[in-house]
Amino acid sequence: MTVHNPSPPTSDDGWWRSAAIYQVYLRSFADANGDGIGDLAGLRERLPYLRDLGVDALWLTPFYPSPMIDGGYDVADYRDIDPMFGTLTEFDDVIVAAHAIGLRIIVDLVPNHTSNAHPWFQAALAAAPGSLERARYHFAAGRGAAGELPPNDWESIFGGPAWTRLPDGQWYLHLFDSAQPDLNWRNPEVRAEFEDVLRFWLDRGVDGFRIDVAHGMIKAEGLPDVGFGQQTGQRQVELLGKSRLPYFDQDEVHDIYRAWRPILDSYPGGRMAVAEAWAETPQRLARYISPDELHQAFSFDFLDAHWSADSFRKVIDSALAESAVINAPTTWVLSNHDKQRHVTRYGDGPAGLRRARAAALLMLALPGCAYVYQGEELGLPEVLDLPDDLRQDPQYLRTGQSRDGCRVPIPWSGKLAPYGFSPAGSTPSWLPAPDTWRELSVAAQTGVPDSTLELYRTALRIRRTHPALSTAAAQIVWEETRPGILAFTRAAGGTTLTCVVNIGDAPLVSTEYGELLVASTALTREGSGYLIPVDAAAWFERC
Ligand code: NOJ
Repeated sequence: MTVHNPSPPTSDDGWWRSAAIYQVYLRSFADANGDGIGDLAGLRERLPYLRDLGVDALWLTPFYPSPMIDGGYDVADYRDIDPMFGTLTEFDDVIVAAHAIGLRIIVDLVPNHTSNAHPWFQAALAAAPGSLERARYHFAAGRGAAGELPPNDWESIFGGPAWTRLPDGQWYLHLFDSAQPDLNWRNPEVRAEFEDVLRFWLDRGVDGFRIDVAHGMIKAEGLPDVGFGQQTGQRQVELLGKSRLPYFDQDEVHDIYRAWRPILDSYPGGRMAVAEAWAETPQRLARYISPDELHQAFSFDFLDAHWSADSFRKVIDSALAESAVINAPTTWVLSNHDKQRHVTRYGDGPAGLRRARAAALLMLALPGCAYVYQGEELGLPEVLDLPDDLRQDPQYLRTGQSRDGCRVPIPWSGKLAPYGFSPAGSTPSWLPAPDTWRELSVAAQTGVPDSTLELYRTALRIRRTHPALSTAAAQIVWEETRPGILAFTRAAGGTTLTCVVNIGDAPLVSTEYGELLVASTALTREGSGYLIPVDAAAWFERC
């Protein structure tokens, strides 16, 4: 069925090359129906906020029918909306309303695994070993005299073995929770199904997809042991992005994307896809964004960089060099729903916030696309002291490490939790916001000149309108100053913009950089320039 397909805001096919994209973690964004969980109607009401923030597009995390064992990354039906989030009609309404105000919509696609509640997995459980139903997943006999040991040594990313045994003696593979069985992408039926799912959402007017575990769909032939984890004593997840594992980043995964690209290209308006991919080297990561595959791959090295000038410089240079080779944009990200919020990663408290604000100016000045995770524009820290019985992350249940602290509902307004996230008198929000978030709400920061929200608004406006930042050109010129200082210039249309970040141990005088446009902290005058303190950043312009 083809539903009305509202035109995206412009027909510029390369819009994603320099876009600012806002990640909406739907169940924590805005709750309109009062059940304590964010929903599509809540998102729709808040679209004007996102337009005014100055982003170009939204990435919505999974909203599909799901038992919600992994926050919706366990999908039971790829062509519908979970009633918790709304209906397909409400989804269409979000698309129309977003496009009407110039915002594009990217949806999350979860192709590596389904939920164990998906009809395919239910049929596989009911069928015999060796059946066509089981061939859509990875079922195998165990090792040991009575098949009592898993088929190989693979570990779940969430901890423990990646295999679960059924009463009939067979084991099935799940690289994440046991409620998330991995699909067998060597089966043509699986490929055909997802090509159809892509078309289903493209027909509804989505502008793109974020591909979950994009590096994981193909497993090495024969499902060989990893082996070296046993020698080093490391958990296999620690090798992610550092070594090639037999279940990740296999060469044949690229065949899947080469089949998807013509589908995306057959729709008007610049439909795109961004890979959540982990690869051993920047070169292998770049393969996902070859011209005939996907459009973007998150630079997790940037997110993982330590708060040091050397660390950032190395990551930025390497990402830009790889992008230049294949003429693809770099894709910067500081936080997401899987990682501790960067205010806390950079030291928490006032120091962490100060650095996070400087990091925002660094990221938003770089060429390429930038992803902003909901709440980072408010300077939200990780919530470290959630009651254990409220934590829902399956990783927490398997390893004790929880991602719930970065998923606490957004504070919008008011003096009492949940700070406008739900209408008055609603069920308590699914995770409680701390008292300190009263001062961090959208209402509390709006119009306050030195607030983090106003900093993001200003920076995003300049990024959109300044010739040197809005250009898709990827050139930056480093200003070689002294250790601890990151300073680079971008130029276009006869003007230059210089971004200076002080991660050193002494203030820096800005004299030679030009007129001040924005700073992450209040700057004092020093001669004809400004004093940029430690852990601060500023943008300067020369015409
Ligand atoms: C990556 C997603 O971002 C994460 O939240 C999820 O748990 C895993 N993929 C499994 O789908």
